[in-house]
Amino acid sequence: MSRWDRAALEALDKADPLAAFREQFQFPDGLIYLDGNSLGALPRRTLARVEQTVTQEWGEGLITSWLGAEWITAPRRLGDKIARLLGAEPGEVIVADSTSVNLFKAITAALSLRPERSVILSETGNFPTDLYMMQGIAAFSGGRIRAEAVHEDAVLDRLGDDVAVLLLTQVHYKTGAVRDMAEVTRRAHQAGVLVVWDLSHSAGAIPVGLNAADADFAVGCGYKFLNGGPGAPAYLFAARRHQAHAMPVLSGWMGHAAPFAFEDSYRAAEGIEQFLCGTPPILGMAALECGVDLLAEADMAAIRAKSLQLGRVFMDLMDEHVADHGFTLVSPREDPRRGSHVSYAHPQGYGIMQALKERGVIGDFRDPDVLRFGLTPLYLRHVDMLDAVLAIRAVCETRAWDDPRWAVRAAVT
Ligand SMILES: Cc1ncc(COP(=O)(O)O)c(C=O)c1O
Repeated sequence: MSRWDRAALEALDKADPLAAFREQFQFPDGLIYLDGNSLGALPRRTLARVEQTVTQEWGEGLITSWLGAEWITAPRRLGDKIARLLGAEPGEVIVADSTSVNLFKAITAALSLRPERSVILSETGNFPTDLYMMQGIAAFSGGRIRAEAVHEDAVLDRLGDDVAVLLLTQVHYKTGAVRDMAEVTRRAHQAGVLVVWDLSHSAGAIPVGLNAADADFAVGCGYKFLNGGPGAPAYLFAARRHQAHAMPVLSGWMGHAAPFAFEDSYRAAEGIEQFLCGTPPILGMAALECGVDLLAEADMAAIRAKSLQLGRVFMDLMDEHVADHGFTLVSPREDPRRGSHVSYAHPQGYGIMQALKERGVIGDFRDPDVLRFGLTPLYLRHVDMLDAVLAIRAVCETRAWDDPRWAVRAAVT
């Protein structure tokens, strides 16, 4: 008799303190959505808010809405709300641009605080845009700055007096492994190195304590666990102690001390607004604010507890039902080291994921052979873990992955 039979899982769902949040989201009936770590689901309230922003604020208010509907303060207002999820203070987080662009801003700001040092350090296998952005900065520097990526186990030993910036992702996008932010930051600071954290898979998924860890800079996505919608604006954290000294390299007019003074020369805004660049995308901001507000209604400790429980149940069920089908667990099994997704490697991973999608179970695939299953506590039930694993077993037993349609990978996997 299985420990996680349907009755046991339904009992967990009944006792789930977050169960009511599921109703706040809209998705097709019967779908099991295990990809909230890539694109969060649609909060119902977002529909009405975006409609209001378009029809009333834009349609009726037109340009007066920059003040009347408080568009102009949206980057800071949303930043302050996200700060609470990140263990930061109001005035330390701003919402703007994409994560990639914010990586550029954060890395160059950190470099400006360590002018005598020349290396941006990261780990191999970090999310590609993180590596690419540091490589681009190095290329642009004409040889003054070097981008270096070492094996994940070698990062702390490489911290030396030539390293200016360490760039790491707290929850690894592929494995879901969690870095110890406080310990890494402590070791980096000991070596005089500043750290830029990518929190894309952390915010809204695990408790984050930026100031408790004495963090320097951080960035992250709005469209994953914050449920801000496709291509939602991203956020940037800069510790208050750095704000008066860092140099904003993307010196756009919205980050100027007085944008509407229209001066010829750039003067950076004093606070976190210096990390703004151009005009904020208001439709995306409106949607993101709904996702962030919804998340703020939930208790982060309950989110973390349920996320870990979903992960344990999912892994147990995989052990029980598909042990003979060639899956290798890629994510850490131990709770403290695992974020909010669970990944498995399988030689037929791509085909398995496509076949699962046809059966109403959506996860994603990451090259070369990793299946990712995102476990989003606000809208998943424990019983979904069983139905997902039974679908995986059915795909394996029928070899449904072996379909010529999946011989060539799609543009998005
Ligand atoms: C860790 C991490 N950083 C950055 C990004 C993406 O950045 P952007 O929003 O600029 O495409 C992702 C997207 O999945 C990610 O997982």
